[in-house]
Amino acid sequence: MTDEPTEAGGTTRTTSSSGSTASGGGASPRPAAASSERLSVPKSSVCSRSYFVVVMVFFHVYIVNVIALLLYVHYSSGQEDAGPPGRDAAQGEQQHQQQQARSQRLPSSTQSLRDVSLPRVEGVRVGHVQKLSLVPNKVHEITTLSLKPLLFEIPGFLSEDECRVVMQLAHLKGLTESQLMVQDGQEELAKELNLSPEEIFNLLDINQDGQLQLHEILTHSRVRDGIWLTPENLQEIYTGLKVDKDENGLLSLEEFRLLSADAFQRFLLQRGVERSQLVRNSRHTWLYQGRGAHQVLQDIKERVTRLTRLPSTLVDLSEPLQVVRYEEGGHYHAHHDSGPVYPETACTHTRLAANASTPFETSCRYITVLFYLNSVDGGGETAFPVADNRTFDEVCLIQNGVDLMDTRRNCEKSNLRVKATKGKAVFWYNYLSDGKGWVGEQDEYALHGGCVVTQGTKWVANKWINIDPDYQRQARYQQLVSQQPEDEDEDEDGLTLHFDIHQEL
Ligand code: OGA
Ligand code: CA
Ligand code: FE2
Repeated sequence: MTDEPTEAGGTTRTTSSSGSTASGGGASPRPAAASSERLSVPKSSVCSRSYFVVVMVFFHVYIVNVIALLLYVHYSSGQEDAGPPGRDAAQGEQQHQQQQARSQRLPSSTQSLRDVSLPRVEGVRVGHVQKLSLVPNKVHEITTLSLKPLLFEIPGFLSEDECRVVMQLAHLKGLTESQLMVQDGQEELAKELNLSPEEIFNLLDINQDGQLQLHEILTHSRVRDGIWLTPENLQEIYTGLKVDKDENGLLSLEEFRLLSADAFQRFLLQRGVERSQLVRNSRHTWLYQGRGAHQVLQDIKERVTRLTRLPSTLVDLSEPLQVVRYEEGGHYHAHHDSGPVYPETACTHTRLAANASTPFETSCRYITVLFYLNSVDGGGETAFPVADNRTFDEVCLIQNGVDLMDTRRNCEKSNLRVKATKGKAVFWYNYLSDGKGWVGEQDEYALHGGCVVTQGTKWVANKWINIDPDYQRQARYQQLVSQQPEDEDEDEDGLTLHFDIHQEL
């Protein structure tokens, strides 16, 4: 790539220099002489020798310019195409060198694996229905719910019996609190980032007016130590810590300095926290789905593989099934199941295969398949606040005190809500495609949450399919867990076979 402009520039220079040489260089004395002669020559001697010379010189200059222009157009368009015939030797050599440089960046052994292209189910348009046979004697209907994120619904994905077995197995194993009351760790991250209060203030001050409005703080700090902050909570904290001296609901830099992370935490601990104030108010457990697991769990995994059309290796190597139970009053505020893609981020599932340790580790869940194991009597829908929102902007998630991510208060303002109905499954892509058949950027529109359960209990299960957006890391990880020489035993998907790593679960 970097060589191409030089090449094009070189061609341009050739064109202009050939023009200037002809007119200003060796040919200049003649036109000058000719023009003075021409003035003195009467019209009748138009066929004189000097007049002929002048005409011929201009004619040649013109021809040379046209040829140069044609050559320039020919070469510069030839460079943009992948490989048109008729390229000269120098250019061919240059292309060859570029290709070599590119392949040196990728280890040759994994390059063949790069041919793998992850299929994506097509959404076509909202309301589009696709029929698919996932189990014998049954046709499932897959309805597109939104295109941003790419989201589908499949009624009756699980049978009543399957729902019952999954809930019983989870019950047997025992569920644990999804979120503990007080968490730490955020403090360490802030230290690691090494930001001064001024720097943080500037980052938070979205409209750069030198004041922090409530929503500017909440956009980035809605979650403090696992606690969900509402605008009223924040106001209460300001009052409790006496930071907002002029009580105008805005913080100046001086006032912001008083709002240290320590003070924040001390205040929350002193005041006490209720379960309803947590980000996630539920209990959950994990069920292994590999060889030796209950047949229903293996069947579900198999069905998910068919539904997503992904290589079975990827589904097998993904997290176990997560079963979640919400009591009445339970909720899960809007969140992403997966983290954003930055060069320094490592995925939890491929961490072993990553070369360097990194402070940023995140779940890389390409797809979420969410199953409803019971029909909820009241509330408990899954909300997608910004699904198919044409004018989505992170800043707009809190407006006029309405926080669209708050699923206890504002679920009805979400763009899309899915009713919790026994046996139904929804699935969506948490990442876009990179356009080359692999995982691309995080899909910001995949934001979702569980609305508060107003009556009864709610049981769901999550099947996450983990794929590292860094192709090389995913390939290395698969080699590692397969413990086989990398070129052996490739299945029809081109991905190396492996034994199951979740056996101990
Ligand atoms: C989750 C989740 C939604 C729901 O468990 O990650 O988003 O409706 N659940 O329970
Ligand atoms: Ca501001
Ligand atoms: Fe989720």
